[in-house]
Amino acid sequence: MSKNNKNIENRNIDRTPPPLTSTADMPIDSRISEFIDEDISVRKEVETKKGAQILSVEGLKMYFPVTKGLLKKQVGSVKAVDDVTFSIKQGETLGIVGESGSGKSTVGNCVMHNIKMTDGKMVFEGKDVSGIKGRELDEFHKRMTMVTQDPFASLDPRMKIKDSILEGVRINRLVTNKKEQDELVERMLILVGLNPMFKERFPHEFSGGQRQRISIARALAMNPAFIVCDEIVSALDVSIQAQIVSLMMKLQKELGLTYIFIGHDLSVVRHLSNNVAVMYLGKFMELTSSDELYDKPLHPYTRALISAAPIPKPRLDRERKRIILEGEVPSPINPPKGCNFCTRCQYADERCREQEPSFEDVGGGHMVACHKVKEFM
Ligand SMILES: Nc1ncnc2c1ncn2[C@@H]1O[C@H](COP(=O)(O)OP(=O)(O)O)[C@@H](O)[C@H]1O
Ligand code: SF4
Ligand SMILES: [Mg+2]
Repeated sequence: MSKNNKNIENRNIDRTPPPLTSTADMPIDSRISEFIDEDISVRKEVETKKGAQILSVEGLKMYFPVTKGLLKKQVGSVKAVDDVTFSIKQGETLGIVGESGSGKSTVGNCVMHNIKMTDGKMVFEGKDVSGIKGRELDEFHKRMTMVTQDPFASLDPRMKIKDSILEGVRINRLVTNKKEQDELVERMLILVGLNPMFKERFPHEFSGGQRQRISIARALAMNPAFIVCDEIVSALDVSIQAQIVSLMMKLQKELGLTYIFIGHDLSVVRHLSNNVAVMYLGKFMELTSSDELYDKPLHPYTRALISAAPIPKPRLDRERKRIILEGEVPSPINPPKGCNFCTRCQYADERCREQEPSFEDVGGGHMVACHKVKEFM
């Protein structure tokens, strides 16, 4: 790792979310490979120990109501997630990539049961968890936790680190003895690469990267099987991103964890994920193994995203052909008829504008939603 990491960690971190625009929204920073290439072996190792299915999601829809006037009459709905289906095996990672506003966080929040999905079925560890509440939901949250982009959202600035880490453990009475609680906090801090003595400090005393490690420690304290990681490195400097990605891979290997890893940087998501889903306007456009997606992208949207990624070698980068995506992402309140991508796709024809393509297996589990996919194979 770089000698400058310490200095970089102490820099002020810009937490401004990326603006809702086109491909400029997707900073695909291949420099990260320099830091995490060595850990690809970890992913490969996990890949060979394919586990049983831990989560399956079928036909997930999340429509947020759009209301008007004092009486809050519903006049429409934001189709944030519109009929998404996937499954994940134990010990694996599903990456979800897509521009800002494509519905990635909403998928994460529905899976976590932070919001009640409009429709769909969810099976977790062999149990239908689609409509669970009360005690069942508490039990579910011991098995599945979430880490988000902004650690300040989960770390109360007035609480000592140890109290933040123990919050869920105390609510669920998982460890009640004070000495054991202290030991648990120290173990978690060591696990995420921090000094156990930090437990008496407050969040503002830490850098962005350290705060993200504390949030991970807080999620791990519950001893979960599954973690939803929503843009957990997006606000961090590139070398710190690499450290957190390496940490997540190490934890996955050591603890057998399963992840949903949401990000808008394709190169970061690639490093961690066994499978990657490309999301656009509430729908999955393509879903396949991480290697296949980057070596043989089939959907015009995925191809445009990948072509926009910088190559580390400047000459090659200058010479290759880029696919420029024109136009803005349409509103999820009023998505286009037919294929969601038709307003920006250079191959769109009448059929694309009339009929929605189905999300189909084009061979070996490579799922694509495009009428013309055969032409690209
Ligand atoms: N609570 C909400 N109420 C209404 N609309 C929402 C809500 N949460 C998200 N949305 C909308 O749903 C769409 C998907 O948002 P989000 O899942 O946050 O996308 P991403 O994480 O890919 O940036 C966006 O158009 C967003 O404005
Ligand atoms: S279905 Fe048509 S508009 Fe949609 S991605 Fe394929 S070619 Fe483009
Ligand atoms: Mg998001």
